[in-house]
Amino acid sequence: MPPFPERVFSGVQPTGNLHLGNYLGAIKKFVALQQTHECLYCVVDMHAITVPLPPADLKHNIREVTAAFIAAGIDPQKHIVFNQSQVAEHAELAWVFNCVARMGWLNRMTQFKDKAGKNSENVSVGLFAYPALMAADILVYRATHVPVGEDQKQHLELSRDIAQKFNNDFAASIAANGHGDAFFPLPEPLIQGPATRVMSLRDGSKKMSKSDASDYSRLNLSDDADAIAQKIRKAKTDPEPLPSEVAGLAGRPEADNLVGIYAALKGETKERVLAQFGGQNFSGFKAALVDVAVATLDPIGTEMKRLMRDPGHLEGVLNQGAARARAIAAPVMSAVKDILGFVR
Ligand code: TRP
Repeated sequence: MPPFPERVFSGVQPTGNLHLGNYLGAIKKFVALQQTHECLYCVVDMHAITVPLPPADLKHNIREVTAAFIAAGIDPQKHIVFNQSQVAEHAELAWVFNCVARMGWLNRMTQFKDKAGKNSENVSVGLFAYPALMAADILVYRATHVPVGEDQKQHLELSRDIAQKFNNDFAASIAANGHGDAFFPLPEPLIQGPATRVMSLRDGSKKMSKSDASDYSRLNLSDDADAIAQKIRKAKTDPEPLPSEVAGLAGRPEADNLVGIYAALKGETKERVLAQFGGQNFSGFKAALVDVAVATLDPIGTEMKRLMRDPGHLEGVLNQGAARARAIAAPVMSAVKDILGFVR
């Protein structure tokens, strides 16, 4: 396989309620990778319509994710920030990948099974084919590294399987078209440690989620300082003081979660946090957590709100990003057409 130049791609769905889990699990990592890689960060609006979403909400959410990217520190001049539906090559390559991926592969996707539940006869075909579109998102840029949360690992493996099968099935044509022995790289997930798996503030056994009925379960990126403080003060705990060692967090999901959030926000280990707070009760620890959460989230939220007041500017960013993304994707898609034998 030729050495593919390193390139980062990731996507966030504009489905509303961006929260601390999205920040610590994804966006914070996106920001850091700008220092070392060429990055494309995509608002994956075509993935968002795999489940029903009112158009006015979709439009608002696309702007909001864009604003969150910028407010968190992604530089849309140096890197590429855009929305998926503006670059038609995503959908074009996704169709090709629908014809490469096997039914059996997609049938094994746990996220589809979770989302479809008992309703699997009545969900959209798009929800089933979602991972093939995700593979196209990545591979239309021949991206090599993909920062994602733990829950996307299986989808990333499927992307690798699709890339590998395309490379194998069309090996002769890939070589004949001058692309050597592989056309697509096998993209690697960049998955952060368990410390950044952010759980609900109301129930330490459930993930922090945009769709939880209780807004007190999550810290939204748009929350102001007062809301952040209130939610942390009301966060569920247990009656014991904090342990001095990480082993003491076992069986205490709420304590574990709050310590993990504090550690992630501070860029420290849980060990160090417990060395400081072990033996203390939650009220002092929560006060410290409020300080660090407000210090991180309030400036992001404030900047997001400022950006949201100027949708024209955000759309300008997306339009310019899409033009730059297209410049990379179009030649890749043309090459794919030649490899497949399409006449163009
Ligand atoms: N499926 C991802 C999620 O829900 C979003 C996504 C779509 C994505 N396309 C992608 C992530 C490509 C990384 C790369 O979080």
